[in-house]
Amino acid sequence: MPVHIPSQPLNLRRLISAMAGHVVGTEIQVHEELGSTSDHVRGLGMAGHPHGLVVFAESQTAGRGRRENRWSSEPGRDLMFSLLLRPEAGLEFWPRLTTLAALAVCHAMESVAGIQALIKWPNDVYLQDRKGAGILAETFTGGAGAFMVLGIGVNVNTDSYPLELRDIATSLRLVSGREVDRTALAVAMLKALDQQVKRLGVGFEESVAEAQQRSWLIGKTLTARMDGQEVRGTATGLNHDGHLLVRDERGMVLTLSSAEQVRPLA
Ligand code: BTN
Repeated sequence: MPVHIPSQPLNLRRLISAMAGHVVGTEIQVHEELGSTSDHVRGLGMAGHPHGLVVFAESQTAGRGRRENRWSSEPGRDLMFSLLLRPEAGLEFWPRLTTLAALAVCHAMESVAGIQALIKWPNDVYLQDRKGAGILAETFTGGAGAFMVLGIGVNVNTDSYPLELRDIATSLRLVSGREVDRTALAVAMLKALDQQVKRLGVGFEESVAEAQQRSWLIGKTLTARMDGQEVRGTATGLNHDGHLLVRDERGMVLTLSSAEQVRPLA
C-alpha cells in the first residue's frame, strides 16, 4: 500500500492577503472536510452570499463530477474548490464560463508547475494526454436571483493512481516531478479566474481563439450522439460561443454545445 504524506495545509491567511482587491476571492473559506464544495456554495448562494465567494475543502465526502460521476481525491493533497458567480451578462452567455474557467486552470497550472496544459473540450484540463483537472458548472436560482457555481477539482500532489485510473488521470506532481505548493497554486487559480471571468463581457473572442490553440480534441476523430443518432467525425474548431465544430463523414459541419456524448477514438 502506498503511503500518502499530506502536503502543507492550505493557508487561508495567505489566500486572503493575495486576493485583496480582486473580485474573485472577495470572501474565502477553507474547510477541513465538506460533503461537496459545490453543494456548500449552492447553499451560500441561496442565502445571498456575494459574487466572488470561494470555498476550498481539504477533503470531500460526496465530491461530484459531471454525469453523476463521483469526484474523489486523497485528503490534503489536491485542490477542490467552488466559486460563486452572479454575472451581469445575460444567462445565455453563462455557459461561456466553462471555457473561461478551463483557460484559467491551464494558466495557473503552467505558471506554478511549468508544464503544458491543454483543454479537452469543454470541461477537462489534460496534462500529457491524461486528465489533470475537471470543471463542473451549475446554474441555480435562489432568493437573490440566479447564480452559477463553478466547481473545480485539480490533481496536484497525488503521486499514484489505482491501476484502473493510471491511463486516464495524472497530477501536476507526476508530470512535473515536483511537489507543488498548493496555496501558491490556489492563489494562481483565483487570480487567473479573476482575469478570465471579466472576459464574459468583453474579449470572449480572444478566449475562444486561445481555447482553440490549447485544444486537446481538435484534429481528433470522435463519435458524438446528436438527436438520438451516433455520428462519427473530426473535431475541426470552436465557434464564437466556444461550441465544438465537427466535420462528419459526409463533410457536413455539426455544432456540438455539450460534451455529454463525445468520445474521442484512439
Ligand atoms: C468532472 O470532471 O466531471 C468535474 C469534476 C469537478 C470536481 C470538483 S471538486 C470541487 C467541486 N466540488 C464537487 O463536488 N465537485 C467539484
